[in-house]
Amino acid sequence: MANKQLEKNYNDAELTFEANGDIKWFNPSEQETWEVMMGWEQPIMEKMAEVCVNEGDHVLECGFGMGILAAAVQARKPASHTIAEIHPQIQPKLAEFASNNPTVRAVNDKWLSLIKETGRYDVILMDTYADADLHTKFPYFVKQKAKQGSKISWWNWIGNKTDAQMKFYWPDEHIVFHDVNINPPANKYYNESVYHIPVYTAQIPPTGYGVVKQDATIHINANESAPLWQVGKYKTILSSDVSGNRSHKQRDEKTVFFMGAKGIYTINSDFKASGNQPIIAKRNNTWRDFNVNQLLVGDKLYGVAGNEIEITQIDFDDSETVYDICKIDVNYNYFVNGILIGKGGVDNA
Ligand SMILES: C[S@@+](CC[C@H](N)C(=O)[O-])C[C@H]1O[C@@H](n2cnc3c(N)ncnc32)[C@H](O)[C@@H]1O
Repeated sequence: MANKQLEKNYNDAELTFEANGDIKWFNPSEQETWEVMMGWEQPIMEKMAEVCVNEGDHVLECGFGMGILAAAVQARKPASHTIAEIHPQIQPKLAEFASNNPTVRAVNDKWLSLIKETGRYDVILMDTYADADLHTKFPYFVKQKAKQGSKISWWNWIGNKTDAQMKFYWPDEHIVFHDVNINPPANKYYNESVYHIPVYTAQIPPTGYGVVKQDATIHINANESAPLWQVGKYKTILSSDVSGNRSHKQRDEKTVFFMGAKGIYTINSDFKASGNQPIIAKRNNTWRDFNVNQLLVGDKLYGVAGNEIEITQIDFDDSETVYDICKIDVNYNYFVNGILIGKGGVDNA
């Protein structure tokens, strides 16, 4: 497992490109030459592309290396093919590849940097090297960047089918292995005669709650709103109860959480949230706490002007579409799109 020192050594290293394309480097901590990528992996890379990528997919590939996997992905005609590469000597090779393949987008940064973008991929292929983020961040990253049913594959460095770390703690029932017979020359990382390509079919939990990120604004005071996911930039958040007692909460309490969720409700064509999002509504002349999935046409919501907003329409998306949703970690009510929602999103369950 790569640590920060190994990652730094590798990122700072002068790589050697052999005549046959193999990539090596000298690790000063171990005083040894190590292989980064070797041409004998070609059958593995081609099989990985074959079992994961379909024509028209949006593909994310992490680590360009010799570009073997990238070429195999391109052969399958993805709609888009984003490739992240960290090493300064490999980035120009990726740039050249991108210039010859119009669906390729080169990202000269860590794959983790893509977390700040919106958008999800049909396929995520992880084959980095000396990467300290991999174990700690990859499962979280997949939750943010995969769709329900996306294909996720990664370099199976341990070479078996059972090790928990190798499977990133994803449950067995969603992982299949594709065996490839190989005949590697002696090397420092994989010397078996069979390689098992792991493929995880992503499961995006429908249980998270929050409001749909791209549409959500939050009131930072009585007159101004801002995108909810940027709330950290502002000093205050406007809170209220249904009798109109308002307060401006200071910003130090908020942390924005992002997750994916299916099953989104749209209230009056404007307010979009997952079913478990707490909200306050008036029914039979009484204000009460509800979840969004309990609301009915005719219920009233509490507006930022102290007004009542009658629910005239509730739409529910029961498709497999996964939305990016977010919530802030506070224990008071706040306004999203001018509607008072319940207790911010602190999980009382
Ligand atoms: C084993 S090679 C990839 C081989 C590639 N699959 C192929 O078919 O040639 C690993 C690559 O990941 C890159 N890399 C390492 N850490 C990275 C990170 N955090 N983000 C993006 N690329 C990274 C390395 O510089 C190297 O180019």
